[in-house]
Amino acid sequence: MRALDHVAIAVKNLDEAISLYRTMGFHVSSVETVEEQKVRVAMLELENTHIELLEPTSEDSPISRFLEKRGEGLHHIAVRVDDIEETLASLKEKGIRLIDGVPRTGAGGKRIAFVHPKSAKVLLELVEA
Ligand code: CO
Repeated sequence: MRALDHVAIAVKNLDEAISLYRTMGFHVSSVETVEEQKVRVAMLELENTHIELLEPTSEDSPISRFLEKRGEGLHHIAVRVDDIEETLASLKEKGIRLIDGVPRTGAGGKRIAFVHPKSAKVLLELVEA
């Protein structure tokens, strides 16, 4: 575990959220759709880290279910790791519950995996540096 990569916030309307965060003085560096995760993502750049705003792109998106249950707000935190496979293997060996046993593709084409909140107390994402 090396550094905080990003904090992610679930929102109902990304365009409204982008406009709100711009008003607050944040710099939006990119907006993209990540098909694999059924989300549209806006990146708010900070020094050596960023905030992700996540909007679901379909009813069966995990973000849709989150918004229904919990409403808008903090969705997950993400930390950078050097070798995601090695990290997953090590966590598995220690009995940590994982959502993803194998890495998948996240925003920016990076390799990511989620650790289960039952273990991490928060939804924790690993991002390969
Ligand atoms: Co994320």
